[in-house]
Amino acid sequence: MKFTLNNFITEIEITEMFEGLGSIKKVVIIDRNIYELNKNKLDVYIKDSPKYFFEAIESNKTLNELRLIYSFFIENNVTRETVILGIGGGITTDIASFAASTFKRGCRLQLIPTTFLGMIDAAIGGKTAVNFNGIKNAIGTFYPAEKVYIHPGFLETLQEKEYNSGWAECLKVSLIMNNGLYEILSDKKSEITLEILQKAIEIKMTLCENDLKDSCERRKLNLGHTFAHLIESASGYTVNHGEAVAIGIRKAAEHSYNEKMIRKNEFNKINELLDKYNLSDIISNEIKSKIKENGKELIFQDKKAGEKVRLVLFRGFQDIIVLEIDNHQKVIDLMTS
Ligand SMILES: NC(=O)c1ccc[n+]([C@@H]2O[C@H](COP(=O)([O-])OP(=O)(O)OC[C@H]3O[C@@H](n4cnc5c(N)ncnc54)[C@H](O)[C@@H]3O)[C@@H](O)[C@H]2O)c1
Repeated sequence: MKFTLNNFITEIEITEMFEGLGSIKKVVIIDRNIYELNKNKLDVYIKDSPKYFFEAIESNKTLNELRLIYSFFIENNVTRETVILGIGGGITTDIASFAASTFKRGCRLQLIPTTFLGMIDAAIGGKTAVNFNGIKNAIGTFYPAEKVYIHPGFLETLQEKEYNSGWAECLKVSLIMNNGLYEILSDKKSEITLEILQKAIEIKMTLCENDLKDSCERRKLNLGHTFAHLIESASGYTVNHGEAVAIGIRKAAEHSYNEKMIRKNEFNKINELLDKYNLSDIISNEIKSKIKENGKELIFQDKKAGEKVRLVLFRGFQDIIVLEIDNHQKVIDLMTS
């Protein structure tokens, strides 16, 4: 199954096979765990390609690691025509994509995401990033991969908490736009199917299609994220991203309901969907007091916030509005009530 995002070239293929990949000149940046788990299958395609083994932890998504990756490129005579192939979850595809976008002003880039979140989110839509001075994704570029292979087989070895991150983003897109995904997900707690992957990717691609640089439509994808970033920073990133996003979506719904932008039954529908996938609704007291103490600094370190706080809220069910508000205290109160 193939589909293409027209505005900037990203061909997405949901596949069991990586056709043509064996024969192209490439260097590989691969999550070491993934290589160990799938060596035999992957070697069919990448055995003879130089490989950079990456330990996929957030504290390695940095400029220091990039230096090593650029040196690896130089040692292996990477040119702009070489394909950089990133294989792994979002940490790996983010840094591989950043390296590809900057080395020699841009090399060819293809991705094989291996997490649920990577397949429906991180590898789709062209955002690349590294962390800097403790600020997540502080430095980055917009550089869509020319091709993204989605191979659901990788998901078999994924850990529970990684599934939750994927589900949070998957539920999120189903609440942003109607393409039938919400109906599938709300019917019963679902397993990941090809249809779910395709529909979730479709929504993300539709929102990115005319807004690569995140200046209007694409911002809807930040539903729940202003609140989530606050929770993640206040917890020193010990709260899992999916959990934080789920709470963030609940807070966005609560705020929308308080402001009479959605009805009670719509508010309930949103929470019931998150409940169905056992996604959290609890902010610990420790995090609440951190937010009370340092909420303002934490909000404004978020790169998506300027002087105003940007909130993505519900104007109805599957009807999203992006608002900029002056009153950051409102966000803090909502998180700590
Ligand atoms: N560029 C974007 O648009 C975008 C969007 C969302 C998230 N992100 C970024 O993605 C990152 C999070 O990525 P993630 O949640 O996909 O995973 P990850 O890269 O953080 O990996 C999580 C863990 O799962 C392991 N893993 C990966 N695939 C596996 C598999 N198939 N089986 C077993 N273990 C596997 C990894 O080795 C790692 O230990 C964050 O850095 C976030 O900022 C980027």
